[in-house]
Amino acid sequence: MNAEDRLIIALDLPTVAQARQTIQAIGPAGAFYKIGYQLMPIGGLELAKELSAMGKKTFLDFKFHDIGATVERGVKSVCQLGGDFLTVHAEPDVLKGAVEGRGDDPRLKILAVTVLTSLNQESLKKAGIEMDIEALVLKRAEFAAEAGADGVVASAKEASAIKARFGDALKIVTPGIRPPGAAANDQKRVVTPADAINAGADHLVVGRPIIAADDPANAASQIVQEIAGSP
Ligand code: C5P
Repeated sequence: MNAEDRLIIALDLPTVAQARQTIQAIGPAGAFYKIGYQLMPIGGLELAKELSAMGKKTFLDFKFHDIGATVERGVKSVCQLGGDFLTVHAEPDVLKGAVEGRGDDPRLKILAVTVLTSLNQESLKKAGIEMDIEALVLKRAEFAAEAGADGVVASAKEASAIKARFGDALKIVTPGIRPPGAAANDQKRVVTPADAINAGADHLVVGRPIIAADDPANAASQIVQEIAGSP
């Protein structure tokens, strides 16, 4: 896999017009884009189709969470968009529904969200979850593997434990990435691109350090170079 395909740029922007400008500004360093809630209701689905037509890959970060049958029907509809990655929550029925909905679609990969990178042990405790964060991530990764999902979204801090347990059976997609010196924003568990790759991440998700940079193309290229230079 080439380094450009390992960087997923989060299009967390208020309008599709701004997203288009950003995609154009980034140019060839941007090969894989993530579309989430912010754009989904206001043209993000059309943008996903446009990106596919341009030969770019798309990550549809919709984080589905519902009864299995509803997830199954939703994922069947998502297949018509022609995306590459789709997120769902890491619960057995949700994952089973998503894998069934994807059926034999050759392109769409189902990713399970393990524990959001904006959460830490203290925020989990406040939500009533006492389990150790790494144990919880591994448990949810196990649900993903058992259901036949393709990968997980997890912090780099848990990537090596996931790689050790599941090897290549699960792709690891890692947000919470900050190039050296960049602001953490609301992320609580951040690591550098090189550290995430070295920990076993297959893809890195990076938003604000690229889309809010003065020179998004340069910010993206630097991360691509850092990925390419990591073993
Ligand atoms: O701007 P930043 O690099 O923090 O953006 C990270 C992106 O990854 C956001 O779109 C966020 O929703 C997403 N994400 C995350 N943690 C997860 C799953 C997705 O930060 N566990």
